[in-house]
Amino acid sequence: MSHAIILDGTSLAAQQREALRPRIAALQGHGVRPRLDVIVAGDDPASAVYVRTKMRTAGEIGVESAVHRLSDTTSEEELLQRIAPLNADPLIHGILVQLPLPDHIASHHAIAAIAPEKDVDGFHPQNVGALVSGRPTIIPCTPAGIMVMLESGKVPLWGKHAVVVGTSNIVGKPVAMLLLQQGATVTLCNSKTPDLAAMTRQGDILIVAVGRPGLITGAMVKPGAAVIDVGISRLSNGKLSGDVDFDGACQVAGWISPVPGGVGPMTVAMLIANTVLAAERMQAPK
Ligand code: GUN
Repeated sequence: MSHAIILDGTSLAAQQREALRPRIAALQGHGVRPRLDVIVAGDDPASAVYVRTKMRTAGEIGVESAVHRLSDTTSEEELLQRIAPLNADPLIHGILVQLPLPDHIASHHAIAAIAPEKDVDGFHPQNVGALVSGRPTIIPCTPAGIMVMLESGKVPLWGKHAVVVGTSNIVGKPVAMLLLQQGATVTLCNSKTPDLAAMTRQGDILIVAVGRPGLITGAMVKPGAAVIDVGISRLSNGKLSGDVDFDGACQVAGWISPVPGGVGPMTVAMLIANTVLAAERMQAPK
């Protein structure tokens, strides 16, 4: 028996995309078609799936996209040389370098090479600095999607304790900043945290972004908590799994996001929203 409210990312993402239509139409009225360019180096199978989903979803709503595929032997210098003309092209509004990159390329060099105003991932140091100092420019897609999901469930944040498991630059660190800005007390945990269960059981909000199926059991969830599962792992039976034991946790939680159909579709919707925002800002009189 499920007690928790399901935070349905599929339908919420569809709403978010529909809300972009008038903004895309307004841009088109000015002769602007928002465009996202994605660079993929190597042939990581998960990246291939993500990129296809991003491009298809963009196309469905009238955001143009192009993918630049580079081999896994591409040098860092070649990659940087591919980014420069995209920065300079006024018809391109968003640039994304799909991670992970091959080991011999420093991802922070690639990210820093993107023009900050076209960095729709929000990973450029200038955009990270803006987020940390409380003046966000472009908010990273997965954290932005998580905040919209919490808002949709009217989950209280002010004065609440949020526990974030996983400290990546893509999810854990930026979502912690956003939760702080909403008045939550935030604890960040990593794989070395002693007695993880003692920490997670304190979370009125529990965000899990590790990539280890079954990491969070129902017994590790505070009764009534909002549980957001960012993990996406492919099991040996081919099914997708989050980091949270959904069946166990939904008996305890107040709100819970499923996998699939939770954070994943929200991330893609926010990427498109960031591309539209970047196009609007390039359009606006300086
Ligand atoms: N790989 C996994 N998630 C992401 C993301 O949000 N952005 C990029 N660029 N690569 C990723």
